[in-house]
Amino acid sequence: MTASACEVVLSEPEFRLYQSLFSDRLGIHLPDQKLTLVGTRLWKRLRARGINSYTDYYHLINQPDQQEELCRALELITTNETYFFREPLHFEFLKDTILPELKHKDTVRVWSAACSSGEELFSIAMVLADQRIGKWELLGSDINQSMLEKARRAIYLDQRTEHMPLEYRRRFCRRGTGPHHGSLRIEPDLRSRIKLQNIELHQPLPDIGSFDLVFLRNVMIYFDNATRQNVVQQIVNHIHNGGYLFVGHSESLRGVCSGLVQVQPAIYQVQK
Ligand SMILES: C[S@@+](CC[C@H](N)C(=O)[O-])C[C@H]1O[C@@H](n2cnc3c(N)ncnc32)[C@H](O)[C@@H]1O
Repeated sequence: MTASACEVVLSEPEFRLYQSLFSDRLGIHLPDQKLTLVGTRLWKRLRARGINSYTDYYHLINQPDQQEELCRALELITTNETYFFREPLHFEFLKDTILPELKHKDTVRVWSAACSSGEELFSIAMVLADQRIGKWELLGSDINQSMLEKARRAIYLDQRTEHMPLEYRRRFCRRGTGPHHGSLRIEPDLRSRIKLQNIELHQPLPDIGSFDLVFLRNVMIYFDNATRQNVVQQIVNHIHNGGYLFVGHSESLRGVCSGLVQVQPAIYQVQK
């Protein structure tokens, strides 16, 4: 949609209100140049709610009982873009370096923080299942409830699975029929082995235990510096000594958190 399709225009003072709200409530930094983008994206929600002013919509989502609507606004402003085996070197490092190191462990625990609709989560699950490492636990979390629902359903359009190795597609997916023709569904055993949870990374973390590996990829781009530091620090507190943290290839952790040693591009090892 273009700006001209909006019947009202987001003014600069109104944009400041949204900047503060997103920063205070979600740790999201909206740069000044995003004014037009924020206006055009949020217009969809104003229309859906029958609201005619950005100020009124701001007051709506600022109410404590409107968390769901706030998340809808967040959904429009951020991206949920993800795909299977995104940044493939991470999955090779997991298979070739990390899992052999962890073979002796009773239970290997992995967390895909900000897992969106589940493609990252199931990519990890396929590697874990393939390597027959014994017991493993995999947690996927996101702030966005509708993305978590998609992950729970685990149905993906064929063309969205093009980066998945063919052998994994054969072993871990079932072809959709009837209304699901043209889609794949992750097979039930793999689905039953993952746990999904709504976790807001900029808030204190719930009691989720410690992990051998955390994927924190392509989510920090939205955070302001202070939020990024807090998020990384509290996640590092949930990683065993010697465990690993993966971030997106465009996200550097230089100066963000102590106790992390970079071992590969966008791969850090925790040394406490
Ligand atoms: C671009 S997707 C990344 C998905 C996946 N990690 C990947 O790299 O393909 C970013 C995800 O971060 C989630 N997100 C944004 N802010 C968040 C927050 N404060 N806490 C938890 N998740 C958040 C969004 O809902 C979205 O699903």
